[in-house]
Amino acid sequence: MLQIKAQLIQRKTYGVSQELRLFAPKLAQRLTAGQPVLVRTGWGLDSYLRRSFHPVTIDAESWTLRLPPSGDRGHAWLRMVPEGSELDCLGPIGVGYTLTDGARHVLCLGEGEMAWALLPAVTQAAERRLSVTLAVGAASARYTIPANRLPLAVEYRVVTTDGSRGRKGHLAALLPELLPWADAILAAGSIDFYHQLAESVQTQRGMLVQGFVQALYQTSFLCGTGACLSCVADIAGGRRRVCLRGPVFDLVDLLH
Ligand code: FES
Repeated sequence: MLQIKAQLIQRKTYGVSQELRLFAPKLAQRLTAGQPVLVRTGWGLDSYLRRSFHPVTIDAESWTLRLPPSGDRGHAWLRMVPEGSELDCLGPIGVGYTLTDGARHVLCLGEGEMAWALLPAVTQAAERRLSVTLAVGAASARYTIPANRLPLAVEYRVVTTDGSRGRKGHLAALLPELLPWADAILAAGSIDFYHQLAESVQTQRGMLVQGFVQALYQTSFLCGTGACLSCVADIAGGRRRVCLRGPVFDLVDLLH
């Protein structure tokens, strides 16, 4: 894990959201999709000013964090910080997604805002010329990922609760048609959704085996080193520090 200064080199506004691109080659080269970075959100020394971000893009020299609509004061500070500023970053934290050898058909499943954490993995899988489907469930069209943010080769499926885009309903409704095709699944959603996913896998494929589904457990991190216990959760058979064991877990471990 590195603690480094990353320069804010670009700010883009998408409606009520912002994306900040941070130049930090050493960090970017170590980051994998799903691994959070803790960013200090103030000029002071208070370590509790850090906020956790899962990158939405990663390249050789930079990574991008996304600021969704929020009343959080740390996010508000980041919305105002001038371009060219150097931000204190700590990361990468824990374990991210891995594209397993032999997987040709990669199914990415994301719920709401968490779906954005899948984008670097989607891009990486498409660059490796794997067949990729991204399926996203959200409350309405406004909360889905625009199709133009995805590589052209990616098949994109959308479900919205209000029916304003794609199929009306919930993400789990797509599972029966998508699961038989997949060799590997990368998921980012709620624990409820993960239970539905596990049940569907068992129904469609007979059993849920280790290595088939990787799932991101969403929580906030303060230290990222296992010291503060702020990220402890009842998962994987006991009280676990998510920053050390996750935040990406095998679904078998996450639910048992
Ligand atoms: S973030 Fe401090 S123990 Fe995990």
